[in-house]
Amino acid sequence: MTIQSLLSALVDIPAPSGHEHSLRSFVQSMIQPHADYLGVDALGNLIARKGEKSKSGRRIMLAAHLDQIGLIVSHIDEQGFVRFTTLGGVPVHRFVGMRVRFLNGHCGVIALEREVETKERAPKVEKFFIDVGAEDRKNVPVRIGDVAVFDSGFREVGRRILAPALDDRIGVALLIDHLCNAPTGPNEVYYVFTVQEEVGTRGAGPAAFGIDPEIGLAVDVTLAGDTPHAGVRNRVRLGGGPAIKVKDAGMISDPAVVDWMTRIAEEARIPHQFELLEGGTTDARAIQVAGPGVHSGALSIPTRYLHTPSEMIDMHDVEQAQRFLGLLCQSNFQA
Ligand code: CO
Ligand code: ZN
Repeated sequence: MTIQSLLSALVDIPAPSGHEHSLRSFVQSMIQPHADYLGVDALGNLIARKGEKSKSGRRIMLAAHLDQIGLIVSHIDEQGFVRFTTLGGVPVHRFVGMRVRFLNGHCGVIALEREVETKERAPKVEKFFIDVGAEDRKNVPVRIGDVAVFDSGFREVGRRILAPALDDRIGVALLIDHLCNAPTGPNEVYYVFTVQEEVGTRGAGPAAFGIDPEIGLAVDVTLAGDTPHAGVRNRVRLGGGPAIKVKDAGMISDPAVVDWMTRIAEEARIPHQFELLEGGTTDARAIQVAGPGVHSGALSIPTRYLHTPSEMIDMHDVEQAQRFLGLLCQSNFQA
């Protein structure tokens, strides 16, 4: 299976934060035959292990999050409109007219109270509702606590991919691909498919506590700054290769990890970029401060239009990230 077809299958399985079960089962069935150990912890993190630690080797924890941003029903109003709040960072005011799909299969459209539509630039989430086509309250096919995700699919546009939740299905795809296809090296590698990253990196910390890794690496996306008037100084671009995280809003990568990643990329002539993200963070933040602390960093895939129904990545970056991850797991880390 190519990484692209794997990605397209992963994008089609909804997994808003706290509701990762369907996606977890799918990933589990794919990796089962290739893992030396496989387990699911109390939070729902899927943890697999492969390879044995040689004398010079390390215990490496790779993390990619299963969950995606979503919406959760808070109440149904008198007229049968579904009121909601957000799971993770969803700038709802940008998504009027977008369709959403609930886990039970029912669909609806995000709408805004007409009175506030013209007056306020970024109305609060209470002013929005989902119209699920119900004539009245009795016929609403969803309940309080039901969750939904953007109802937009996987599309190829030239060398690039458009899809919802590439954050972080691309990381999940890279981990599955590595676990199933890459040869083992001197390191013992833990592949952790984490839960609840989008609501505050809640799954990765407990997983790291249990694994006690010597090196932690999140494989996730980072915001590209290569669109018109993007307003950022650190311009990670699509097609420029995977990014080595130096810093984001939640962590400062371990300089020894940054140096190690840079050396491996340079030696193999892997095009790469350095990332300094001003807002947001990844599971690496939680891993870094788990237990007595872990040497941590992150490998990032440049992505445009993050947290929208149509995130965009470049397959060239994905192929280079695939190579990069393979080489990192084959190599020796020295702090
Ligand atoms: Co995200
Ligand atoms: Zn992410």
